[in-house]
Amino acid sequence: MAKEIPIPELISVPTHVGVIMDGNGRWAKKRGLPRKFGHREGVKTFRAITRRAKQLGIKYITFYAFSTENWKRPRDEVDAIMALFEKNLDAVKDFIDEEIRVRFIGDRTALSDTLRAKMLDTEESSKHFTDTTMILAINYGGRDEICHAVKKLAYAVKDGTIQPDDITTDMITERLYTEDIPPVDYIIRPSGELRLSNFMIWQAAYAEYYFTNILWPDFTVSDFDKAIADFGERSRRFGGV
Ligand code: IPE
Ligand code: IPE
Ligand code: MG
Repeated sequence: MAKEIPIPELISVPTHVGVIMDGNGRWAKKRGLPRKFGHREGVKTFRAITRRAKQLGIKYITFYAFSTENWKRPRDEVDAIMALFEKNLDAVKDFIDEEIRVRFIGDRTALSDTLRAKMLDTEESSKHFTDTTMILAINYGGRDEICHAVKKLAYAVKDGTIQPDDITTDMITERLYTEDIPPVDYIIRPSGELRLSNFMIWQAAYAEYYFTNILWPDFTVSDFDKAIADFGERSRRFGGV
């Protein structure tokens, strides 16, 4: 059995952590393997970090798994990633045994019927868990999400239920895929890239960031503990003094 890593003493933990799982392709390339092997390895990290989030008392953790821009990749890579989602959604059910709530964000209309059915089923069977919610972003794009919210508001204006002048930022927030989920406090991006790549652009307005050169498949529970400990050192002012 793998050695349990003791839970560190933490000053504070973020309520909502976002993780941009990046570097799978480079991890595989370094080993002379096709990119899909990197994605497969990345799933192992994802599972370990989800469990750790619960152990650390993190209430929400969102993983960016596939962006609205990732369809630009070669067909065989996209197919391999979709096949991995389908295969691993059965495994995600293990999270139910661990009392982790599972939710999905993103535009589901482009996903296969099988995948969508599995997503709904997982959400339904885990919806009563309250400690930790794991959110998986599939076919997710921040701009696409805002565009959807704007369309909903436009329809409400059209049918007369709201007036344009009454639109508030909260009304936009409530119409995002994240609806009732609090804004992201802390965004972790491995692999050395220093950008958001269209991840939670609205929700990240006051987020803190943690970047590391480690490639996602190599990112360990200890690396995660270290990142979370670093959050405790941050001084957040939200525009105040
Ligand atoms: C992240 O790893 C996974 C997805 C975006 C689906 P990448 O596939 O982007 O890996 P790199 O950035 O090419 O190394
Ligand atoms: C961001 O990674 C998307 C996901 C991790 C799902 P990318 O690898 O697609 O981002 P860019 O292209 O380097 O910005
Ligand atoms: Mg990448």
